[in-house]
Amino acid sequence: MNSHDRQLCLSGKGVTKIFGFGSKKTLAVDNVDFEFYSGDLISIVGESGSGKTTLIKMLLGLTSVTEGEISFMGKKRDIGSRRKKKEYWKGIQAIFQDPYSSYNIFSKIDSVLLDCINMRGGRLLPRKTKIEMMREACSFVNLKYDEMTNKYPFELSGGQMQRLMIARIFLLKPKILLADEPTSMIDACSRATILDMLLKLRDETGMMIIFITHDMGLAYYLSDTVYIMEKGKIVEFGSADEVVLNPKADYTKQLLNDVPKIHDPWEFSKNRRKDAQWTEQFVV
Ligand SMILES: Nc1ncnc2c1ncn2[C@@H]1O[C@H](COP(=O)(O)OP(=O)(O)O)[C@@H](O)[C@H]1O
Ligand SMILES: [Mg+2]
Repeated sequence: MNSHDRQLCLSGKGVTKIFGFGSKKTLAVDNVDFEFYSGDLISIVGESGSGKTTLIKMLLGLTSVTEGEISFMGKKRDIGSRRKKKEYWKGIQAIFQDPYSSYNIFSKIDSVLLDCINMRGGRLLPRKTKIEMMREACSFVNLKYDEMTNKYPFELSGGQMQRLMIARIFLLKPKILLADEPTSMIDACSRATILDMLLKLRDETGMMIIFITHDMGLAYYLSDTVYIMEKGKIVEFGSADEVVLNPKADYTKQLLNDVPKIHDPWEFSKNRRKDAQWTEQFVV
């Protein structure tokens, strides 16, 4: 892609999030600036508690911004009403750590996919066309559509669920996908498949992807650009090669030292229920 084709998709200036007040105040995201361009695959890397999820929630409009400004497609973002938020979510979508929390568990899988087609204005398409689209989305993520219909989300494995999440994104075709540690709760084998599907999604649709991880190895494998977050601040950013091969911040060097660690295959979120609440709110 030529540099002049790069369109500014998402940017932020002085973005800050403070939870609570007085002596209970937490500065979760501290005055961060960023510029994310179309077609890029960006990783945001930091340890647990560094503010990654809070930043993602602000980008999605699930959490208010305490200070600073976020712009979407070059314009100051306006998500002041429910209607505007829904419109915004046509352009920006997310995949979360716990795929089960993102579904209504009483909704069958084909209706989850059908909702995506309807959301993209396909409500009046013939049933046959809709099935064709769902088939295509399933095959994009190597799932068999015929085996998916009539199943409930909880009947799938974690890896299959995360693939279904990607099938959902394939149908929704947002400009931007935020993926918050999407592989940290699934086994190592499925993890590689999911990462490759994210790459395929970017390559075939030109979607910009922001991948959140605590793992420098994954970030390096996947991304063009890497942002490093420490205690709410962005301490370093640059091309994946620059940041990984020639790190400047001490914190980046420390993260790089942690890379050879063997992955813990099942890493359950302590906030499982809390996370479930906000993801359900967001899935429209
Ligand atoms: N809803 C909340 N209320 C109060 N503090 C929060 C809330 N969500 C996150 N935090 C705090 O903000 C900081 C950053 O958390 P988080 O964004 O989840 O980090 P990460 O995703 O990098 O692990 C942590 O200190 C966390 O305890
Ligand atoms: Mg997090």
